[in-house]
Amino acid sequence: MIRIGLLGSSGRMGTLITSLAQNEFKSDLEIIAMARKGDPLDPLLSADVIIDVSFPPVMTQLANLALKKGKDLPRFVVGSTGWSPEGLCLLEKLAGATPTLLSTNFSSGVFALSMMLKEYAPLFKKMGYVPVMIEKHHIHKKDAPSGTARTLQGSIDPVHPAQVQTHSVRAGEVIGDHEVTFYGAGDQITLSHHAQDRTIFARGAIETARWLATAKTSSHSHRILGMSDYFESLKTNSLGVS
Ligand SMILES: NC(=O)c1ccc[n+]([C@@H]2O[C@H](COP(=O)([O-])OP(=O)(O)OC[C@H]3O[C@@H](n4cnc5c(N)ncnc54)[C@H](OP(=O)(O)O)[C@@H]3O)[C@@H](O)[C@H]2O)c1
Repeated sequence: MIRIGLLGSSGRMGTLITSLAQNEFKSDLEIIAMARKGDPLDPLLSADVIIDVSFPPVMTQLANLALKKGKDLPRFVVGSTGWSPEGLCLLEKLAGATPTLLSTNFSSGVFALSMMLKEYAPLFKKMGYVPVMIEKHHIHKKDAPSGTARTLQGSIDPVHPAQVQTHSVRAGEVIGDHEVTFYGAGDQITLSHHAQDRTIFARGAIETARWLATAKTSSHSHRILGMSDYFESLKTNSLGVS
């Protein structure tokens, strides 16, 4: 039984993860500690894997606690978005101490979109098309552009990701839409992903945590892992060797 610590348990994502853990995944894992605003974070560190669906400043506090503790650390699946370069440096330190995966989007559909963009954006650029991204989310979202949009910018242009023209819309209760249109002189090509149910992210977080808990550590690469490591490793059950 995999023992999960959940940071951000009362939020939109945390509530769904709790429900899936108690139902669909109850034979594989149990949530042994959870934290919302005001709760102590130390109890989370006794878990096998921590899933973070809070916000970077909160996860930063937990990462600092973990690094201070230093040994017998849980593994980390970090899903909060809006990380600063300093915050990412801290996650790199954490990844050096214990397997740590960071994903701006746990859905397999967005991973597929990212792969398609990596494959085709260079070709479209050579053909003269210019990419423009529109991302839409609910009005409660704190960061813009979304973490997913930033990831997709990197898939389109790994050298100058911030130069990919990106527009953020915050309206209603939109779960998460990402649309990339490549504009040519006389036509357009559009690739897009529309989340219809937040459960795709919650299920992805749990499946990733289950993988991280059981993956072999011998090849632990000490870098921050990502969804590509997860999908690649489904073939071999190894950690970050791809
Ligand atoms: N990777 C992905 O696939 C994915 C998908 C969707 C969202 N996200 C990201 O996941 C994060 C959460 O999204 P959400 O929509 O679930 O947000 P949310 O509904 O606002 O939930 C945030 C959670 O964080 C907790 N929290 C806030 N401040 C805290 C503190 N100081 N100490 C401990 N807990 C604290 C909240 O507790 P209270 O309820 O007590 O305030 C709540 O449980 C965001 O960063 C979002 O961008 C990632």
